[in-house]
Amino acid sequence: MNKLLVTGGAGFIGSEFVRQAVHKGYTVDVVDSISYAGDKARLKAAGAGVKFHKINITQAAAVNAVFHAIRPDKVVHFAAETHVDRSILDGQVFLKTNILGTQILLEAARAHGVKKFVHISTDEVYGDVAEGSSVESSPFLPNSPYSVSKASADQLVSAYARTYKLPVNIVRASNNYGPWQYPEKLIPVVIYKALNNEKVPVYAKGLNVREWLFVADCCHGVMAVLEKGRVGEAYNISSGIHRRNIDVVKAILKALKRPQSLIEFVADRPGHDFRYSISCEKARQELGYVPAYDFERGLAETVAWYSDNRAWLDLKVKYLKDYWTKVYKKA
Ligand SMILES: NC(=O)c1ccc[n+]([C@@H]2O[C@H](COP(=O)([O-])OP(=O)(O)OC[C@H]3O[C@@H](n4cnc5c(N)ncnc54)[C@H](O)[C@@H]3O)[C@@H](O)[C@H]2O)c1
Repeated sequence: MNKLLVTGGAGFIGSEFVRQAVHKGYTVDVVDSISYAGDKARLKAAGAGVKFHKINITQAAAVNAVFHAIRPDKVVHFAAETHVDRSILDGQVFLKTNILGTQILLEAARAHGVKKFVHISTDEVYGDVAEGSSVESSPFLPNSPYSVSKASADQLVSAYARTYKLPVNIVRASNNYGPWQYPEKLIPVVIYKALNNEKVPVYAKGLNVREWLFVADCCHGVMAVLEKGRVGEAYNISSGIHRRNIDVVKAILKALKRPQSLIEFVADRPGHDFRYSISCEKARQELGYVPAYDFERGLAETVAWYSDNRAWLDLKVKYLKDYWTKVYKKA
């Protein structure tokens, strides 16, 4: 039962999960199309034992062939289009990869008798939570094309569990941060801009609240669900650490000894959810999941990693400058 197929394993969270899985003695095959956000360099630290398959999950024949060749015991499904702002510019690829791609994987898992299919979903499926925290049975109220695509995939997974008795788990994770995150997401954008003494764009007044989860903690949660999750159940995985965007930005500027005058408020993201918060009490009670990182330690490690890996950061940002002009507009 230790042969894992990990989709999206060349991505930010998937690659951390692969490193942890290899460390625990799993045999890992990665399926990833290497989209603009994917990078095999993230897998170097996982060692040569990880087999890589460059496959787009929307291609059913290729997905079936790889399941046939590997015969995985379990599947952990991270592959997705993941950036809300891009989904607002053009949602179509989100629907294809996140919904159709998930359905193709579910079919392959069913056809090949996979013993567990763990789907990685997001706190964004619950939508805005003005106060308190969403639990696993809270209603879905997704508001962006990204979160709608993730909510659809999440419900497809549940449908396969009920209709075909596919043994599944769903993980709904809160906002991840840490080393290797593609610099289109808030924390690495701010680190890049601050390192280069450029203006740091902040949507509206920066008051939106997110629940920040260090990527290693997220993957420990996913591993706990994979190994101990009750079949058919969804588990929220989060940190209990809530921060306004403006406070995250100020903490990064402080860590890098940059002035707060670098902050530039820009026009808000259309449809911007104000606050996400999920309770991971179920994972704590059933699986013993407890996040290890506080925000200060996680942010310090993240800032240090990007400072030490400027070449990787610069390489990625080279292709982001045009994109930034589309999403960061004058207030
Ligand atoms: N980053 C977060 O804060 C967060 C929070 C909750 C849930 N999630 C979910 O976790 C998962 C991983 O997120 P991430 O931040 O690591 O994303 P990421 O964008 O860094 O990585 C996504 C990976 O999927 C691959 N991919 C994209 N389209 C593909 C396709 N059609 N076929 C095969 N591979 C494809 C990419 O090449 C990339 O390696 C996603 O499902 C995301 O929705 C992310």
